[in-house]
Amino acid sequence: MSTSISLLIPPILALSCCSLLLLFPPISAADFNREFDLTWGQGRAHILDNGQLLTLTLDRTSGSGFQSKNHYLFGKLDMQLKLVPGNSAGTVTAYFLKSGGAAWDEIDYEFLGNLSGQPYTLHTNVFTNGKGDREQQFRLWFDPTADFHTYSILWNPNTIVFSVDGNPIREFKNLEAAGVPFPKSRPMRLYSSLWNADDWATRGGLVKTDWSNAPFAASYRDFRAGEVCVWRGGETSTFCTPPAATSGWLNQRLDSMSQQKLRWVQTHYMIYNYCTDTKRFPQGPPTECNTAAH
Ligand SMILES: *[C@@H]1O[C@H](CO)[C@@H](O)[C@H](O)[C@H]1NC(C)=O
Repeated sequence: MSTSISLLIPPILALSCCSLLLLFPPISAADFNREFDLTWGQGRAHILDNGQLLTLTLDRTSGSGFQSKNHYLFGKLDMQLKLVPGNSAGTVTAYFLKSGGAAWDEIDYEFLGNLSGQPYTLHTNVFTNGKGDREQQFRLWFDPTADFHTYSILWNPNTIVFSVDGNPIREFKNLEAAGVPFPKSRPMRLYSSLWNADDWATRGGLVKTDWSNAPFAASYRDFRAGEVCVWRGGETSTFCTPPAATSGWLNQRLDSMSQQKLRWVQTHYMIYNYCTDTKRFPQGPPTECNTAAH
C-alpha cells in the first residue's frame, strides 16, 4: 500500500512533534470487549486476555460468531486470525463486512478448512445490491493454522482491496462509470463466524467434518480499526478517525508496487477466478472483469 503517514503530514504540522502526536495517535490494537458483541453460539465464543484475544468454537451442536458494535461507511480494517488447526475439513471461518437490507453489500473472506496437511482455501467475494457471484479463491503461501496472520480490508470510495500480511490479493475497483455497482452508501458491520459447512466446503462436500476432533477453534487478535468512518445512525452522519480530510486511506489507490504484488499473488496463488470461468459466463465475463486488471 502506498500510504505513508509522513506523506500526509502538512508541512507546518511536521515542525511540531506534539500536535502531530495528537493528530495521528498510533493506531493500536482495539479491545474486543469495546468493539464487538458475541452474537452467536451461547458460550462458544470467548473474549480473553483483557480484550486482546477472541476465540470462536464449533461443536456438533453449534458454531459461534461475533459482530462489530459499529457500522462502518468506509474503513481500513486489519485483524489477525489463526485458523482451526489439524483436521479442519468441513469447517468454514467467515470474516466479512455486510450491510443490512434486501439489496445488501458485502465484502467476504471465507476460510475453507481441510484434512490435516491439506491446504486451506481462501475464498473471497464482493456483493453489491444483494448480488455476489464474484468469487475468487486462493491458496495461502503459509500455514494459516500455525500462527496469526493479518487479513485486511481497505474499503474507500475508489476501491476495495483485500490484503494478506500486507500483500494485496484482490482488488474490486469502483467502476460505476462503466455501470458496475459499487458499495458506497450502505454502512456495514464487521462479522465473523465459525460454522459447519461440510455439505460444500471441502472438496465440494466430499470430505465431511470429523466431530471426534471437536471442538474446533479459531482465534483473533490485534484488531485495528484506527482508520474508519463510523456511521452514527443518521442518513449522513458519519464520523471518521482520523478526520477524513487529513487521512490518506480514504483516497488511497493501489500504487504500482502494490499492483505488482497483487499480480504476483494472483499468478502464483489464485486457484479460481469467476472472471475466467467461461462455463459459467458463456456470454462473456461480467463488466468489471474486462476493465483493468483484477
Ligand atoms: C483440500 O485439499 C485438496 C487436496 O489437496 C484440494 O483439492 C482442495 O482444494 C483443498 N481445499 C478445500 C477447501 O477443499
